[in-house]
Amino acid sequence: MKKILFIASECVPFIKTGGLADVVGSLPKLIDKRYFDVRVIMPKYMCMRQEYKDMMEYVTHFYMDFNYQSRYVGVLQCVYQGVQFYFIDNESYFGGGAPYGNIREDIEKFIFFDKAALSALPLIGFKPDIIHCHDWQTGLVPVYLKDSFRAGEFYQGIKSVITIHNLKFQGTWDVKTVQTIAGLPDYYFTPDKLEAYKDANLLKGGIVFADCITTVSNTYAEEIKTGFYGEGLDGLLRARSGDLRGIVNGIDYDEYDPATDSFLVHKYNAKNFRKEKIKNKRALQEEMGLDVDDSKFMIGIVSRLTDQKGFDLIAYIMDELCQDDVQIVVLGTGEERYENMFRHFDWKYNNKVAANIYYSEALSHKIYGSCDAFLMPSLFEPCGLSQLMSLRYGTVPIVRETGGLKDTVFPYNEFEGTGTGFSFMNYNAHEMLATIRYAKRIFTERKREWNKIIDRAMAMDFSWKASAGKYTEMYDWMLE
Ligand code: ADP
Ligand code: GLC
Repeated sequence: MKKILFIASECVPFIKTGGLADVVGSLPKLIDKRYFDVRVIMPKYMCMRQEYKDMMEYVTHFYMDFNYQSRYVGVLQCVYQGVQFYFIDNESYFGGGAPYGNIREDIEKFIFFDKAALSALPLIGFKPDIIHCHDWQTGLVPVYLKDSFRAGEFYQGIKSVITIHNLKFQGTWDVKTVQTIAGLPDYYFTPDKLEAYKDANLLKGGIVFADCITTVSNTYAEEIKTGFYGEGLDGLLRARSGDLRGIVNGIDYDEYDPATDSFLVHKYNAKNFRKEKIKNKRALQEEMGLDVDDSKFMIGIVSRLTDQKGFDLIAYIMDELCQDDVQIVVLGTGEERYENMFRHFDWKYNNKVAANIYYSEALSHKIYGSCDAFLMPSLFEPCGLSQLMSLRYGTVPIVRETGGLKDTVFPYNEFEGTGTGFSFMNYNAHEMLATIRYAKRIFTERKREWNKIIDRAMAMDFSWKASAGKYTEMYDWMLE
């Protein structure tokens, strides 16, 4: 039995700010339990919902020297859907209203977390063969494994892999501060190790010192080796390309299933969506205060409202798009200018635009299960899960051809009768608008063709089945 430890800053159902939580929460369940014992360790945030905190039980606690102080480290645990979870407790670090806030504080918080998680392992009595790190928050784990923890017999031979979910976020701060907090020698703070462009960079540390590197789609694995997508680390990623692989994300097919989804007024499947899904559309139109009308082309958006997701393109053509016979239902939070942009268009085109500027799992499921199309014109997209959820619910994705969007949405070809969505290549607002209008034309004028696109979309399999196997292949390979 091979032992794998996931270490991550977020994980469903306990806490989620984005797709990272979905991946960390669903992948361990789907890894073959006959050969792998996969456990997860994460912070215990005070802002977690009480029902989850109630599930946790105390395991142990200890004090750890950290940043010139002796710090409390509590360890809690619970088993959820067959997976063993551990939680690192320290109220002064994890007491905020959200997992992330001010970057300077976050840097200290997650260096603490990395060190505490490693220190807790002998007390828990779990010695992993591989520690699987996720994103910059866990970037120091591979570094510590090669450094201070190397001396301890317990840690001998533990391998590490880091998965890059988003290269944009690297956890950078000045060298002196990071070095002091981390308690690492000068040796590590050179441009071939943790230093990048004069600052200390936690993700870079992870990439340099992990035994393997993965990212969440094949296309993104290629893109990040280029200047445009490389976020300043493309040189390093090219240098480590032999150890870098792309494994596309899956989604939890039990959680996201239109046939059983308790958030949907009307459940449906690949056979009866023609009759049943439209009932959800009517219900959502009513709930959103839009015209209840089957013929309107209803476009959904569920997203963090950031530049990454292409909202400047949307802002640019919103007025023009709203001249058409469309409805746009948005759910998201993020940058103020985009929140206000949608509030503004909701006010201006009240019967066409519904802006929901908050976080809601229920509404997200309703959007996936009701809209005709789903818009995701990302500037870059490591994988993207929303388009996978849309495909699963027969909501036709309209995406830009980048990263995981390119790998998972196949553009409609009207001559060959193929494709599961619509896509455009250049980061250009009018190219996007033309693609939306093309999709709308197929929806309005060629309904049978449209429904066949849905047939093909719903027939795709983006459960974890294939990708979990790719991770286990990698684990096996690492331990050979
Ligand atoms: P990212 O991780 O870059 O934000 P993904 O597409 O990988 O993008 O994952 C986003 C996840 O967050 C999806 O599960 C999506 O449904 C969810 N999500 C984003 N915004 C909201 C929101 N406002 N309310 C509910 N769920 C949201
Ligand atoms: C990041 C990426 C997103 C990806 C998710 C899970 O948040 O932005 O594209 O799907 O991580 O890997």
